[in-house]
Amino acid sequence: MKSYRIALIPGDGIGPDVVAAAWQVAEAAAGKENVALAAIRYPWSCDYYLETGAMMPPDGIETLRGHDAILLGAVGWPATVPDSVSLHGLLLPIRKAFVQYANVRPHRLLPGVEGPLKAERFDILCIRENTEGEYSGAGGRVHQGGANEVAVETAIFTRAGVERILRFGFEQARQRTGRLASVTKSNAQKHSMVFWDEITRQLSAEYPDVEVTSYHIDAMAARMVMAPESLDVVVASNLFGDILTDLGAAIQGGLGFAASANIDPGRTAPSMFEPVHGSAPDIMGKGIANPLATIWSAAMMLEHLGEGAASARIMRAMEATTRSGIGTRFGRDATGAITEAVIEAIERE
Ligand SMILES: NC(=O)c1ccc[n+]([C@@H]2O[C@H](COP(=O)([O-])OP(=O)(O)OC[C@H]3O[C@@H](n4cnc5c(N)ncnc54)[C@H](O)[C@@H]3O)[C@@H](O)[C@H]2O)c1
Repeated sequence: MKSYRIALIPGDGIGPDVVAAAWQVAEAAAGKENVALAAIRYPWSCDYYLETGAMMPPDGIETLRGHDAILLGAVGWPATVPDSVSLHGLLLPIRKAFVQYANVRPHRLLPGVEGPLKAERFDILCIRENTEGEYSGAGGRVHQGGANEVAVETAIFTRAGVERILRFGFEQARQRTGRLASVTKSNAQKHSMVFWDEITRQLSAEYPDVEVTSYHIDAMAARMVMAPESLDVVVASNLFGDILTDLGAAIQGGLGFAASANIDPGRTAPSMFEPVHGSAPDIMGKGIANPLATIWSAAMMLEHLGEGAASARIMRAMEATTRSGIGTRFGRDATGAITEAVIEAIERE
């Protein structure tokens, strides 16, 4: 029997509820495939920060390194801990230390879910560069508070960083319908984005079976709304990908359905799987958080671990659940009821 050690970091707010739900579903699906999953839980969160003065212990990264994957709920409780502290104390160090340079988010409508668009049939895989670009953190401020104050934020694009994310995009496109959309703004950003376009053209010679098209970010935003069905794999820099994936979450019905993976394609360290949404303080404790985004993220985790059959069981069960109308409308079904429906669908097969 194959077995995996999974680090669970439920985090803050609705995080513990949705991680508990996704874990039950993952165990049910894995059990059907004779796969054992062992959960090792870490209480790292804003509460942990208030108790200890840190979001995770000093050896937190080394502790996580020994796992096969990480399933995370949500991090952030702005009422007590500034977001800059919680984000920089937990999520970002993990993504960076484990070189999770590919942030992958699938955008499609689950059956029975109503999106805001007329188009119902689209299936987009957005890949966001996760370690450099506009979010490199390079820059500074001088003359603070003065009329001559200056703030500089430098976007950093390295050949290695751009090449590896594009290569990942080409590989994903090859496994799907063979179409890759690369997103830049090279008419306005004549250094970094022209560099990105050049590397795209160079790599495309290695992937003659992949049809690659370059779009400007503004045109891509419009296309995702007007003609999402024309897209397959979309690859973008850190900032552009961040914005496009929130748009992607919106067109697939909202944050309750948006799953994500932070992947180290080199598999030198564990990858991390998490819903796109945050800790949702406004609904915490009400038992109405939609667990489907986290359940979908758990399916992505099993797929990444090579357990495609267990992953497919989760996806089929989720689709059967939303097709029957459960979990499709915000606030109507309890977290527990949606989870039970997905598990029942797994058991029924
Ligand atoms: N990756 C992460 O851990 C992550 C991502 C985004 C925000 N955050 C943090 O979460 C905290 C709250 O942020 P926010 O309010 O801007 O964003 P949020 O995603 O927590 O909530 C935005 C809105 O969506 C709703 N929502 C979110 N998830 C839902 C779900 N599963 N089911 C039903 N409704 C859901 C919320 O009720 C809220 O109205 C902040 O501290 C923020 O920094 C963390």
